[in-house]
Amino acid sequence: MPTSNNSVRQMGGIYIKKYGSKKPIGKYYFRLMLGIIGIKQPIEYYGKNKRLEFERNTLQLWKSYCLNVPNVIQVKKSELYLSAIKGETCAEIFNKSIDFDLILKIFIDVNNRHELAIKFNEPTLCHVDANLGNILYSDNKLFHIDFEMGREYEAVNVWAEREITKLLISLSGVVGINSMKRVVSIFLNTYTHTSIVRRFINQKISEQSVSNGANETKYRLINLALDMKECMVASYDD
Ligand SMILES: Nc1ncnc2c1ncn2[C@@H]1O[C@H](COP(=O)(O)OP(=O)(O)O)[C@@H](O)[C@H]1O
Ligand SMILES: [Mg+2]
Repeated sequence: MPTSNNSVRQMGGIYIKKYGSKKPIGKYYFRLMLGIIGIKQPIEYYGKNKRLEFERNTLQLWKSYCLNVPNVIQVKKSELYLSAIKGETCAEIFNKSIDFDLILKIFIDVNNRHELAIKFNEPTLCHVDANLGNILYSDNKLFHIDFEMGREYEAVNVWAEREITKLLISLSGVVGINSMKRVVSIFLNTYTHTSIVRRFINQKISEQSVSNGANETKYRLINLALDMKECMVASYDD
């Protein structure tokens, strides 16, 4: 189920992105209004033009660090024109079969990028909406698309935490419960920013005791934190 009223159309070698409201629409307009009166909001609740501007700036920043993203071709009538990346999204690839080598590649990519983000204090080098539909695999390279999430008032380590959790939750949806421990283990062996992982684990485990009536996402995040903790403890025992 799409979470926004954005629409994307392809015209030859170009993807054209038109920005719409986020769903549910009532909540979007309420938070948009809060933003207008000066109460800080997540990027997904910005108005259409401001989101387009944020996405364009992020794509240009990534390019300046030689990271793989589509080229911005032009902005016309509040639409963003991007070069088409040939290939499939990781969601499409994993829906056919799980490729653990590709999962490792994704984790190496995240780790190296977070190295840059932290070193240069560039939070937007973290891809907060890192679901597998927003990561393309083309010519043995990973490309990222769709930069409309994050909170500009948060620190770089929080952006990094949001990316790794979004990514792992998205992976848990395709690999299934039985393989998730293997995925978590590959992740912990690859991702070197351990203070970010520890912060996430501690936070979610402390929420566990008050999670009665928690929604599905909260429940999945707590389970992820528990899997990570178990995997860390097992590696100390080895
Ligand atoms: N530059 C691009 N190259 C290839 N595919 C793209 C490109 N931009 C978008 N897509 C395709 O369109 C889909 C939706 O684009 P996206 O930017 O993620 O918008 P949305 O906000 O609607 O999720 C992607 O999952 C991908 O399949
Ligand atoms: Mg998307």
